[in-house]
Amino acid sequence: MAPYTPPTGSRLDKLRLDFNENTVGCSPRVLEALTSCISATSLSMYPEYAAAMQDLADFFNVAPDEFTMTNGTDEAIQLFINTFVEAGSDVVTLRPSYPLYRFYLQLGDASIREVDLLENFDFPAEQLLAAIRPDTRAIFISNPNNPTGGAVGHDLIQRILDAAPHAAVLIDEAYFEFCGVTLLPRIRHYPNLFVSRTFSKVYGMAGMRCGCLFSGADNVKWLRKAQSPFSVNVLALIAARAAVKDTEFVKNYVDEILAARDLACKGLKRLGIRFYPTHSNFVLFDAGDRAIPIRDALRERGVLVRERTFEVPGAIRLTIGTREQIQRFLDELECLWTR
Ligand SMILES: Cc1ncc(COP(=O)(O)O)c(C=O)c1O
Repeated sequence: MAPYTPPTGSRLDKLRLDFNENTVGCSPRVLEALTSCISATSLSMYPEYAAAMQDLADFFNVAPDEFTMTNGTDEAIQLFINTFVEAGSDVVTLRPSYPLYRFYLQLGDASIREVDLLENFDFPAEQLLAAIRPDTRAIFISNPNNPTGGAVGHDLIQRILDAAPHAAVLIDEAYFEFCGVTLLPRIRHYPNLFVSRTFSKVYGMAGMRCGCLFSGADNVKWLRKAQSPFSVNVLALIAARAAVKDTEFVKNYVDEILAARDLACKGLKRLGIRFYPTHSNFVLFDAGDRAIPIRDALRERGVLVRERTFEVPGAIRLTIGTREQIQRFLDELECLWTR
């Protein structure tokens, strides 16, 4: 299998429109909480989870036994696979989608079947339903989907949950805040439903590595059995508790990103560049055979974007930053594009 090696080097001094991160950083309340809570003693102790779990349970409106905290969503994906997927198990994913599903599934020696997104990257509902077999053990849906940005409504996901009662279905809601569709309130209704969330995107804490995996309490018992007892560190606990309290920060950031996304789409359209409908904090656009030279030239001008040509010919994924950041990107792109 191919190693997963994201290009994370030398990014600090550049405009980072490449990893779908929060481009202004985390809430100042997170920094305050970290500086006031870190001490030699707190760092010397193994993490205690109960208080943070209660705060997060209150915030997400679930019970503490209906989720587990994870070291980013990536640990949630791996934990979900370790718990519910065996070597040779039939698993259905979408293509293109978040590459780490495939990565961990390959590590677990699962038998992967990929259903292609439709034209314009619409959700292949009928094809996915038709792909479900009696022996399908797991289904992965990123909603909104990375790298395409498309999202699917509750109704379709509920049809899939109904059609696959024997399969564990993971709805990865890493970009929920930019889209507003969530299956989280349905975890008590569907015993096969798992929902993941992350603190890496809107909360601006990708470096902290903190996420949550939600499901019915019976499933969560199994997940916890398979999880390392201290995979989430003490700093992530402090940061996550502070982050969920600053709802205004999240609201303001989402409002800014939605306005900037509009600006980005209008700018791309003006340049005659095709892009795909997005419900997230990124937009995938088609730079044709200029994708790699454009990515490289933007980098030279201090602007980072992610090329996805290995999965979608000609595609570049642009993370939406603030309006000011997007305007800078558009100005740089225009110079290169119209050359
Ligand atoms: C769909 C999706 N899921 C999960 C992740 C990983 O999130 P985390 O940083 O919480 O591991 C990403 C990151 O880009 C993502 O796009």
